[in-house]
Amino acid sequence: MRVVVIGAGVIGLSAAQSIYEQYHSKVNPLTIEVYADFFTPLTTSDGAAGFWQPYLYDKGNVQETKWNKETFDYLLSCLSSAESVKMGIFLQSGYNLCTEPVPDPSFKDTVLGFRQLSERELQMFPEYNFGWFNTALMVEGKSYLPWLMDWLQKRGVKFHHKKIESFRELSDAGADVIINCTGMRSGELQPDPDLKPGRGQIVKVDAPWLKHWIITHNSKTGVYNSPYIIPGSRLVTVGGVFQLGNWSQQNNSTDHQQIWEKACQLEPSLKHARIVDDWAGLRPVRSKVRLERETIQAGASKIEVIHNYGHGGFGLTIHRGCAQEAARLFGQIVEQRGKRLKAHL
Ligand code: FAD
Ligand code: BEZ
Repeated sequence: MRVVVIGAGVIGLSAAQSIYEQYHSKVNPLTIEVYADFFTPLTTSDGAAGFWQPYLYDKGNVQETKWNKETFDYLLSCLSSAESVKMGIFLQSGYNLCTEPVPDPSFKDTVLGFRQLSERELQMFPEYNFGWFNTALMVEGKSYLPWLMDWLQKRGVKFHHKKIESFRELSDAGADVIINCTGMRSGELQPDPDLKPGRGQIVKVDAPWLKHWIITHNSKTGVYNSPYIIPGSRLVTVGGVFQLGNWSQQNNSTDHQQIWEKACQLEPSLKHARIVDDWAGLRPVRSKVRLERETIQAGASKIEVIHNYGHGGFGLTIHRGCAQEAARLFGQIVEQRGKRLKAHL
């Protein structure tokens, strides 16, 4: 069985890992290959802050909430392993701030120590009058992606630096199953009007005194450009903007200025921070994650495709749950092939 994963962001690499984990001893021979035109550190997954929280997308999708939780629980279980530093995972606490009381979020019982903010805590943030405190996880793409690649390489997975033009190209080359993890560019392989870029821009700063993340929500404006500050292992990520339909991956100086002014208002000590970098990326925004099987006619033959894209601003937050589901769908294909083969004998 020859499996080809398209995409080497967090979604593609973790899908390859779950398929290997679940099937390398059951399917013989099993060949897994990853094709991508961008690898770490150049994917969207590398630029992301790496914060575990379904930010901006906590819209009550039961399936996605389950995959988010599965990811959190998996990462939490990895914390005690010797690999956790290389994986770029660690616990971090912080504040969600709102301009008015809102219902509890879906992740209330997933994160650790979730509670409402006290009056004393709220006094630190004069523009906000409601919020939560909890401990969440960080999973930094710049460490996690190289760790995943190393994990896969050690188990014989091959990587190819190549842009794929069509599913048929891979079918003609002998692939049995394609796992489509092409993120924001999935529409190039198969049109999807539901998939839109949600452009983001962030500023990376050196501010080692900041130890807590601060995420703000402005339910009044409904415009997703509220400031956030997320300390990472080395640098602090300051954001953000959300521009639906904007395909530009260039840094924009007006966005930079707005992000910076709002963040300094929220956390005045940022004025003493050294600005290290700016980065802009495209969130693959969709009404819901596309994670399903499709049999595609490729010339004279048919090819099985498992789509796994459209993870918006929560790809790192949800990746493992989706990877496990992609592997389960792969298992269905294996089972059906086995039955068909038996029927022919
Ligand atoms: P990508 O990382 O973009 O990978 C896509 C892969 O597909 C690449 O390897 C690319 O080369 C390959 N590819 C595409 N088309 C082809 C083709 N035709 N042929 C070959 N290869 C192809 N999420 C969180 O959970 N936490 C955060 O803190 C967070 N912060 C974010 C901050 C910003 C500013 C932005 C923009 C996003 C943030 N996100 C965050 C969202 C997260 O980055 C995405 O959801 C995630 O990276 C999507 O992963 P992916 O693997 O689908 O896509
Ligand atoms: C973002 O998409 O900008 C984002 C996602 C998760 C946490 C923080 C920011």
